[in-house]
Amino acid sequence: VANFASDNNSGVCPEVMAALAQEAGRFGPAYGDDEPSARLTATLAELFEHDVQVLPVATGTAANSLCLAATNPVWGGVVCHALAHIQVDECAAPTVIGGGLTLHPVEADHGRLTPEAVEGFLGSRRDSGVHTVPITGLSLTQVTEAGTRYSADEVAALAEVAHAHDMVVHLDGARFANAVAAGTDSPAELTWRAGVDVMSLGATKGGALGAEAVVVFTDCLRDDPARLRKRVGHLLSKQRLASAQFEGWLAGGAWLRHARHANALAERLGQGLARLGVPLAHPVQANMAFALLGASQHERAVAAGMHYYVEDGGGGRVEARLVTSWSSTQADVDALLDAVGGA
Ligand SMILES: Cc1ncc(COP(=O)(O)O)c(C=O)c1O
Repeated sequence: VANFASDNNSGVCPEVMAALAQEAGRFGPAYGDDEPSARLTATLAELFEHDVQVLPVATGTAANSLCLAATNPVWGGVVCHALAHIQVDECAAPTVIGGGLTLHPVEADHGRLTPEAVEGFLGSRRDSGVHTVPITGLSLTQVTEAGTRYSADEVAALAEVAHAHDMVVHLDGARFANAVAAGTDSPAELTWRAGVDVMSLGATKGGALGAEAVVVFTDCLRDDPARLRKRVGHLLSKQRLASAQFEGWLAGGAWLRHARHANALAERLGQGLARLGVPLAHPVQANMAFALLGASQHERAVAAGMHYYVEDGGGGRVEARLVTSWSSTQADVDALLDAVGGA
């Protein structure tokens, strides 16, 4: 049995557990006025080489929604990819928490927006003055929902278009660790240096129990994210334990070690599938592979205890979303390949 359904199906990594256990044995101030949270802000400022405001929350949906709510007017609109988690998987939370702001999905290449796609969308809109929702934000996902990655230059080109139209740039970094681990661009280069104003930084998929954060880089706020967070019930009274999870995850580069491990296994999966002649729906660039399995390959994999989400792959094929995590093993990957290959 091997689980490729989601990196959220993984458990909690030892570094996070150790940091949690240490902090859990102590008293500490409630509601974020604590040492781990202050240290986390300092650590992230160092990591990103920039002053940051950091607001830990428990879910990525909360982080994304708060980022967008704090940086867009209630009557604004945010452009995102058609596959974006905020658009497809958050039950309109950004609209609810954002007071009515709307999302504007745009189709583009393998989960990645392009400057041309964004410009094309902006150019296609009729402006009827007060009747029209003005586009005030751009949201990118890194790693994308299709498992692809933006380079720092690609983020910069998109942010340039956005800023030329007075749009705030948000990055959904639920898998930011995998993006950093997979490339040579630094966290700073992938974010504020490329024009990202605000991001959701996720640790949960990478090995935390439940720790995500709003990270503000620039003077982009229209509203107070701390007030918004409390108002929607996302201020954690024991925030220090969320911050401690981040600390354990970041310390000594555990976050990148785990992400590199997950990425390497996805790479092995992609190469193995290619050897078996299985087409991939998207290139493998981080910790996800999207395999277009034949019906019997899928049946064999399921019979062998492989767990993954499927969609219709077209032409009688099943699109299997295979996600690796810090706790996936080479044996898991090889068992899946053996099952698909009929070994
Ligand atoms: C791209 C992306 N963003 C954000 C999230 C965070 O979602 P959640 O609210 O489930 O923590 C996920 C989780 O699946 C995701 O894949």
